[in-house]
Amino acid sequence: MKAVRIHSYGGPEVLVYEDAPRPHPGEGEVLVRVHASGINPVDWKIREGHMETMLRHTLPLVLGWDVSGVVEELGPGVSGLKTGDEVYSRPDISRDGAYADFIVIRESEVSLKPKSIDHIHSAALSLSALTAWQTLFDAAGLAAGQRVLIHGVAGGVGHIAVQLAKWKGARVIGTAAARNHEFVRKLGVDQIIDYDTERFETAVRPVDVILDTQGGVTQERSWKVLKPGGILVSISSPPSAEIAATHGVRQAFVFTQPNAEQLAEIATLVDGEKLKVTVETVLALSDAMKAQELSARGHTRGKIVLRVL
Ligand SMILES: NC(=O)c1ccc[n+]([C@@H]2O[C@H](COP(=O)([O-])OP(=O)(O)OC[C@H]3O[C@@H](n4cnc5c(N)ncnc54)[C@H](OP(=O)(O)O)[C@@H]3O)[C@@H](O)[C@H]2O)c1
Repeated sequence: MKAVRIHSYGGPEVLVYEDAPRPHPGEGEVLVRVHASGINPVDWKIREGHMETMLRHTLPLVLGWDVSGVVEELGPGVSGLKTGDEVYSRPDISRDGAYADFIVIRESEVSLKPKSIDHIHSAALSLSALTAWQTLFDAAGLAAGQRVLIHGVAGGVGHIAVQLAKWKGARVIGTAAARNHEFVRKLGVDQIIDYDTERFETAVRPVDVILDTQGGVTQERSWKVLKPGGILVSISSPPSAEIAATHGVRQAFVFTQPNAEQLAEIATLVDGEKLKVTVETVLALSDAMKAQELSARGHTRGKIVLRVL
């Protein structure tokens, strides 16, 4: 099969589009014919070697952990899926990914894809939507009537998070560059902050929940925007428990986990027209280098996706 792999960590030039062995599904696993593979910042962070000690990958490694495709073959013991099923997944990030014609995924990480969108859009959805779900609902327990500040609301995670928060009945404040304001207004953001010209900590009344996609100074400046007892959930860098305590608030760091049940709920929301994923750019599998360079600029509106089939 064709795949984009790395044989060493480094810059975009270590991505190699090449022939690679087609994997075989083991016990409880399925082989998926990949139709599309979503791009995420974690792809180039892993390529650069930043997560080497955490994930201990064996090289060569196929990158890409956002996939939509069709079940091609079942491993022993698989009972909930059949060949020909159209599926999507955010598979285990410690194994080979989906910048390839085929990927082997555990059945427990795979869900039927939304029926109302194509493979390009469902490959754009799984990782970002699971992240938004696990931060807003599992970690923060966001409830109707609460106020949530979402940093980077136009990005892959942010543009899904605003819709999930609105679906839950929350009021959403989001930070974005001016060129994205119309986009995020249409997604339902109630108060938009231009992070280039406004200080969010003075423009925003205290909130119950902050979703921090940025880390660094954005995270440092965020503490004072929380109500007493509120929670800052970061997906960028682990917040300090000591600093949270001095502000009388809570903190959490989320590293997104595969979850087929949550993906099934997300697919229902998409098919019920409650959730829409925006794809800014579609590139060929062989253009993975270009796709990662675009992602690494840090200003993606919605998602970038590789078309594989
Ligand atoms: N822990 C986890 O499991 C997990 C899961 C998913 C993602 N992440 C991480 O979370 C981060 C965001 O992921 P993503 O997929 O949403 O990335 P993305 O699609 O690249 O979006 C990032 C967004 O950040 C915005 N931005 C840039 N500078 C900003 C600033 N100073 N203040 C506010 N917004 C700013 C950009 O919007 P503008 O164009 O409007 O500037 C862009 O849309 C990445 O670092 C990623 O690695 C972690």
